Amino acid sequence: MNRVRSTIACCVTAMLFAASTGVQAQNKIKVGFMLPYTGTYAALGTAIENGFRLYVQEQGGKLGGREIDYYKVDDESEPSKAVDNTNKLIKRDNVDVVVGTVHSGVVMAMAKVAKDTNTLLVIPNAGARAVTGPMCAPNIFRASFSNWQPGYAMGKVAGERGAKKVVTITWKYAAGDESVEGFRDGLKTTGGEVVKELTLPFPNVEFQALLTEIAASKPDAVYAFFAGGGAVKFVKDYAAAGLNKTIPLYGPGFLTDGTLEAQGAAAQGLLTTLHYADGLDIAKDKAFRSAYNAAYKMQPDVYAVQGYDSAQLLGAGLAAVKGDTAKRNELVAAMEKAKIDSPRGTFTLSKSHEPVQDMYLRKVEGMQNKYVSVAVKGLADPSPGCKM
Ligand code: BEZ
Repeated sequence: MNRVRSTIACCVTAMLFAASTGVQAQNKIKVGFMLPYTGTYAALGTAIENGFRLYVQEQGGKLGGREIDYYKVDDESEPSKAVDNTNKLIKRDNVDVVVGTVHSGVVMAMAKVAKDTNTLLVIPNAGARAVTGPMCAPNIFRASFSNWQPGYAMGKVAGERGAKKVVTITWKYAAGDESVEGFRDGLKTTGGEVVKELTLPFPNVEFQALLTEIAASKPDAVYAFFAGGGAVKFVKDYAAAGLNKTIPLYGPGFLTDGTLEAQGAAAQGLLTTLHYADGLDIAKDKAFRSAYNAAYKMQPDVYAVQGYDSAQLLGAGLAAVKGDTAKRNELVAAMEKAKIDSPRGTFTLSKSHEPVQDMYLRKVEGMQNKYVSVAVKGLADPSPGCKM
């Protein structure tokens, strides 16, 4: 009997010891990538994953002292599949954190599932304002931008360059709508106005009829939100129609980021605004670019930076709790306070968990989105509707 008692006591002691020394820290942290790996945004998803993995590799393959296991789902930039796809990571794979996605329509469904299940969500691109507005929550962070931010900066720049009447053209979904909203707000500060808003469904690239309408409207400038494969086609079609000779084309930097090789001559000279640029005089950027080039044999773009910074942001939280994800409140508090040493320049987060960051004016020269100036310093999305 005594032997049985002492065996039980020994097991209980071992269990308590294991718990107190954080045996959990021996297990790997499960990170679920929900990103587009097919379709018009496929290259963006790959760049984000590359950037994320690069940061983890630089930390010896660990965040908060724990190794990382990756799980992946191709979200196809398809909002109607977003709930099922998010649940594959959360319920089937039991991930500790979801990293995703690119498309604003998809991220809104992801944010709802993340809220309902209290899963940590780090957004490495999608700029939908709702997720850091009315849907904002302690477990939802964005390491990228809000759709409003680059649009607002470009509106100011376009107005300062003399654009009074502007036509906008976008895909008809949250990212396009909010990018135009930002542009309109920025343009308004200079006395300019948006006179016509043209749209087509995502990811349609039949631009011809709309380009004909632009030519007939004769605006002072055009503002376009497209990204990935759609941006390549739009910029080429705009030039092929001869519009680049008479009507300046402006956009958020997504119009020319990661796309220049495919756009070629059609993109030369284009001005865009974004939270990243080529030729930034930032030591962290130089180190990041050479590490990325060494790892993937290509230059990084803004999407790679955002993936890298998503890992940095998560890493800041995990380091504070030594990898113990059960200490959620402390983890969230550390992420909220993090100062991210980003290749784009150091940034902090607003109360709604969104980067407060400089917006750069860039000009396409050769294969680069060359830094021109800071268009707006320390820009924060006002995050209307966020009660946190
Ligand atoms: C978005 O859907 O939020 C988005 C997609 C590509 C580039 C920028 C924003």
